[in-house]
Amino acid sequence: MRFKVTPAKVADASVTVPGDKSVSHRALLLGSIASGRTEVSGFLAGDDCLATLAAMTTLGVDIQQPSATEISIQGVGLRGLQAPHKDLDVGNSGTAMRLLAGLLGGQPFDSVLTGDDSLCSRPMERVITPLTLMGAAISGRAGKPPLTILGTATLRSINYELPMASAQVKSAILLAGLYAAGTTCVAEPAVTRDHTERMLRSMGVAVSSSAGKVSIAGGQMPHGCQVQVPADLSSASFVILAVLLADNADVLIKNVGVNPTRTGVIAILQGMGAEISFENPQLFGEEPVADIRVRSSRLQGGTVDPDLVSLAIDEFPVLFVAAAAASGKTVFSGIGELRVKESDRIATMAAGLRILGIEVDEADNGAIVHGGRFGGGTVQSHGDHRVAMSLALAGTVAADEVIVEDVAAVRTSFPEFQDCMAAIGAVIRLEEDDSV
Ligand code: S3P
Repeated sequence: MRFKVTPAKVADASVTVPGDKSVSHRALLLGSIASGRTEVSGFLAGDDCLATLAAMTTLGVDIQQPSATEISIQGVGLRGLQAPHKDLDVGNSGTAMRLLAGLLGGQPFDSVLTGDDSLCSRPMERVITPLTLMGAAISGRAGKPPLTILGTATLRSINYELPMASAQVKSAILLAGLYAAGTTCVAEPAVTRDHTERMLRSMGVAVSSSAGKVSIAGGQMPHGCQVQVPADLSSASFVILAVLLADNADVLIKNVGVNPTRTGVIAILQGMGAEISFENPQLFGEEPVADIRVRSSRLQGGTVDPDLVSLAIDEFPVLFVAAAAASGKTVFSGIGELRVKESDRIATMAAGLRILGIEVDEADNGAIVHGGRFGGGTVQSHGDHRVAMSLALAGTVAADEVIVEDVAAVRTSFPEFQDCMAAIGAVIRLEEDDSV
């Protein structure tokens, strides 16, 4: 499947993007091991979260989906999961694999976690190491999936310093910590998204966080609750980018999660001159939410503050396109983690932008993007949803047609991508492989 993108005028509009992927995963996992029922609204019905839903069903949890965005989970309690009768295949989802590894590490039964080719090439020793220290019997194939987890009676708590900023690894350890004797403590080198901590608290579990350290005492039972999932800021970022690149548009994106551990993209874009503001602030449970107003803006390059990287970790494909459209050069540093995402995002974005006529200098841990004008061309997404959507948006202001190949993975996080873009006037056509 490919996107064909032709330049179009972006119109003033008010739009809604689908639910937050990270929060939707956590609602499924925590709702499953809670006591009582958890009702979820605004759920993201993308392939990644549906893979987690299927995995929890295989682990014996009754989960109903009365509509695409509503989920009702009959929690089985901390000790109620059942041995799976087959391997748990979580498709493309790193979040599902790493968080489930933490959850399954403390179960009395054996399980196997696997995924697609992209996921099976991603590093898992980052969860294997701390979970093994906790007493879990977990192994991969040269540190990569599939992961085989053997049943364990009890885990022990650890004090662990994360070698990299990763909310997935932090969350895996906290979930295992629920099954450990004593208090588990995780220190992170930079602040990462804290949705696990917030949802645990809204389910009545005490989690303490201060000065880059998070602690949880084992044996605490989460209690089912209502979860209203905010719209995903990572998906909203594509709309924001389209509006920023356009001429004279003013768009409101409704009810977006603006948890401060996620808003690095806004701070970085504002630093480049973007006109973005938050309106109507409110809380969905423990999660801050606002409407985001964005107006077309003239962007300038500069040096991106490395302290913002972990707060914008999924938005670098968007930021690379913003930098390519900005005047002057933009310097990104401290972004080495991008090399182990759904693709090596430094390499795949640099390759795509170069085809569109943009100069990019690549380093191991950084990149310099030289602002310019997008030409047309055919670019590869390398099966990476965020690379596919970001390069498609370059096409909305390119001199010629842009074709983005291999875009099926957009379904993992933003199945309504083309519809949302159409709502603001951007024309992104999806073509099946046999239609050309
Ligand atoms: C996520 C954490 C991040 C992010 C991913 C979702 C999460 O991954 O890139 O899309 O839901 O915890 P890392 O923890 O690997 O940085």
